[in-house]
Amino acid sequence: MSEIYEQLQKALKSIRKVTDFVPEIGITLGSGLGGLSEKIDKVCEISYKDIEGFPVSTVSGHDGKFIFGNLSGRKVVCMSGRVHFYEGYKMSEVVMPVRIMGLLGAKIILLTNAAGGINTDFKPGDLMIIRDHISVFVQNPLIGQNPDELGVRFPDMSSVYDKALISQLEDSAAATGITLQKGVYIQLTGPSYETPTEIKMLRTLGADAAGMSTVVEAIAANHMGLRVAGVSCITNMAAGILDQPLNHEEVKATADAVKDKFERLVMHFVQVVH
Ligand code: HPA
Repeated sequence: MSEIYEQLQKALKSIRKVTDFVPEIGITLGSGLGGLSEKIDKVCEISYKDIEGFPVSTVSGHDGKFIFGNLSGRKVVCMSGRVHFYEGYKMSEVVMPVRIMGLLGAKIILLTNAAGGINTDFKPGDLMIIRDHISVFVQNPLIGQNPDELGVRFPDMSSVYDKALISQLEDSAAATGITLQKGVYIQLTGPSYETPTEIKMLRTLGADAAGMSTVVEAIAANHMGLRVAGVSCITNMAAGILDQPLNHEEVKATADAVKDKFERLVMHFVQVVH
């Protein structure tokens, strides 16, 4: 058994001691978007600190736990809070929670995040469907011994974000009266925000929104054959677009201001997704 798979099995065992809940859909909630977890008709909750070998988040606004329960009539597991590379974890640790959601039974993973808008047509408060990503500025989470039990050594990334799920997200937006942007998300390591020149460069490369998560989780989920959908909440315009400095308080405040819209979209999507 590969080392990573062995670690995952230990973590899985800790969870299975507490619950035999089998989710259909796994959801990660980005900065300031954790309120959705309160809409879950909760069956059980497990803190990352109670799971053997699990990384524990340290950022304010990211409390790390799995919430199991029913949302819009579907069985979900929700990652409330995630761990980030900038906290000092290895990328293989950063993707443990998403891998565990898959091993618990989830076949569909919805990844959400707070992101800076690089596309100047965007405005703070917009929601963006992720149609593709750029991963080349962060370490690949699959570096190291390949866990063959999960997937192949050289996985295809031609369509990381499932086309049917993108279309269902668009249908949910139409049904709930929400306008969505669609674009390319780029992950950077953080924790510092980008410079105006870096943002100009990233725009040239084809990125529409920048953040510090999601891409590595999408790669790991895709590697193990899960269907992935992603939604970014554009919490601020990226550096240099507006004449104002960036800060985490603004990110959390914008995410909080759009939480009703975000929750409506996700709850409808979860109800109809197939
Ligand atoms: N840059 C990177 N990550 C972010 C941003 C940003 O502007 N906003 C929220 N997360």
